[in-house]
Amino acid sequence: MKVLGIETSCDETAAAVVADGTTILSNVITSQVDIHARYGGIVPEVASRQHLLTILPVLKQAMMEAGVAFGDLQGVAVTIGPGLPGSLLVGVNLAKAIVLAHNLPLIGVNHLEAHVYANWLERSEPPLFPNLCLIVSGGHTDLVLMEGHGQFKKLGQTRDDAAGEAFDKGARLLGLGYPGGPIIEKTAKKGVASLPLPRAWLKDSDDFSFSGLKTALLHLVREKETVNFSIADAAASFQQAIVDVLVTKTVDAAKRLQVKQLLLSGGVIANRALCQHFVNSSPVPVLFPPPRLCTDNAAMVASCGYYHFKLGEISSHDFDVIPSLRLGV
Ligand code: KG4
Ligand code: ZN
Repeated sequence: MKVLGIETSCDETAAAVVADGTTILSNVITSQVDIHARYGGIVPEVASRQHLLTILPVLKQAMMEAGVAFGDLQGVAVTIGPGLPGSLLVGVNLAKAIVLAHNLPLIGVNHLEAHVYANWLERSEPPLFPNLCLIVSGGHTDLVLMEGHGQFKKLGQTRDDAAGEAFDKGARLLGLGYPGGPIIEKTAKKGVASLPLPRAWLKDSDDFSFSGLKTALLHLVREKETVNFSIADAAASFQQAIVDVLVTKTVDAAKRLQVKQLLLSGGVIANRALCQHFVNSSPVPVLFPPPRLCTDNAAMVASCGYYHFKLGEISSHDFDVIPSLRLGV
């Protein structure tokens, strides 16, 4: 069963064709990162207009690389939220046009759930249930128990900044540019995590908080003339503080809930230092996608859609985008 996935929730325009929820036949992504970098962050109107410019070439390339025509598809999956309203509309409108023209079933997909399904792609053995999912992206830090396909229970979330947002803001404070995650990871390799930065443990809760860490880094940068340190050491210390909190709290929850596996996903999981700490600390197997499937892509959307189709779910044609959609009850 071949499913076309479409993703335009933020600043990546993406289309992909995936067979049986696991085999990637094509996975085309155009990033707007260079366009937004000059503003130091994503400008929503610029993002939606850019999606409009690139969505059809991206779609055509995904179909061509997969070697399929619309008649070869069994369904279309599209991200309906969470995300930027104007950006989401571009992908959803295209998906509706395709299913109308080719009489295909359509499924609207939760972007956060799609990130989790990146763990089903290109893997010989599917993940096991129940598992614990940590979804860490630019907009979200969610800890969710997954008991089956489409069955999610929310355990915790960030009370302020998302982990990716913390990386982006930290990088800006250190003058490293945008997006922050990859630059901090690269810079941290040249430094030592020697600076004292706080960790918000929020004991007895599965929630997270990263705004205090960001403020502490701001104070450190302001005092740089008196306390001398290298930017590499600051990046390493900042990254270590985020890693410590994410790993410790997630592993504690995995032990408490006695899950079979830990599933990591979202753009921040592209950080291999973070993944390595998880592997070293977790008593249960840790699954995470390759970096190119951690950041936004449409293959994960197609995979998620496939499993919803298998559950017999099909969206009606009159749905709207849901910019503040959440995952789990
Ligand atoms: O999942 P994603 O591509 O988009 C959203 O849904 O938000 O995540 C983007 C976030 C950005 O905040 C970016 O800084 C972060 O993921 N990120 C990283 C790394 N690569 C991307 N954070 C830490 N280390 C990385 N290597
Ligand atoms: Zn994302």
